[in-house]
Amino acid sequence: MPKVFITRPIPNTGIDLLKEKGYEVVVNTEAVDRPATKEEILAGIKGVDALLSVLTEKIDSEIMDAGLPTLKVIANYAVGFDNIDLKGAKQRNIMVTNTPGVLTNTVAEHTFALMLAIAHRISEADRFSRAGKYTAWGPQLLLGADLSGKTLGIVGLGRIGSRVAYHASKGFGMKVLYYDVKPNQEFEKEFDARYIAGVDELLSQCDFVSLHVPLLDSTRHMINEARLKTMKPSAYLINTSRGPIIDEKALAKALADKIIAGAALDVFEYEPEITSELKNLDNVIITPHIASATEETRQAMSKLAAENIIEALEGRIPPNLIK
Ligand code: GLV
Ligand code: GLV
Repeated sequence: MPKVFITRPIPNTGIDLLKEKGYEVVVNTEAVDRPATKEEILAGIKGVDALLSVLTEKIDSEIMDAGLPTLKVIANYAVGFDNIDLKGAKQRNIMVTNTPGVLTNTVAEHTFALMLAIAHRISEADRFSRAGKYTAWGPQLLLGADLSGKTLGIVGLGRIGSRVAYHASKGFGMKVLYYDVKPNQEFEKEFDARYIAGVDELLSQCDFVSLHVPLLDSTRHMINEARLKTMKPSAYLINTSRGPIIDEKALAKALADKIIAGAALDVFEYEPEITSELKNLDNVIITPHIASATEETRQAMSKLAAENIIEALEGRIPPNLIK
């Protein structure tokens, strides 16, 4: 009977699916409010056919070797897979899968929640009100910025970037510019969007910039001190991709110095640590890597991760095999 180790308790749909198949499923129930330790993963992976991992776990060669010779597939509970040593997996003939598609809408919604919240100063206004500072209505109290009519720059036009463009263009009357390694004419037609061939040029033209690239050597610190300086002083930066895409120290300084107007961040360079300067600034919104965290989506991710495992263990190509 195939055996699966799940590093953290995840929503039940996928676990139920694996059990219905008759698989032996072991969930690391110790790691509820904290990450699984490397020791727990090293112990749990012994003799299993499949590992279901989450994005905070570095799945390296040591862990993979501990799963050999039985380990056939690693199903990451995330669309991103920068936590997994893909080369090491290939060398060991271990398949790696992710959970794209099912979280696209949710992450795009969270991106918009952040964009609206920073522009309309929602968190700041909430803090202000709770602190008892709302003593009188004021014609100039907490003035923010509209989204409507503004230019949104999307860096990375994958599924999520495209869905953000949909909301921006169809729902909020924003003009959409985008940067990616290559242009997409169909997308341009549908969203009246314009391709900008360079990151610097894109940054300098936008009122809002939203990041949707995967974390690669080529995207690490893509947003650095020099690039922040090319942005408009009225611009907002949104990040729901991966923390290290932004040089966080440089961003904290740019926000403190009013080089840009604000930032709304769901991911952090050294998460769960957050650069302390950011926490002291009013023009920053911080959420704890929850862009895909809705009941529906976390269940759908659970189901998809399980389906990837089942397909792999039944000798078929899993739907979300990372090549
Ligand atoms: C979340 O960050 C994911 O990659 O799914
Ligand atoms: C992730 O699903 C992306 O392609 O943006």
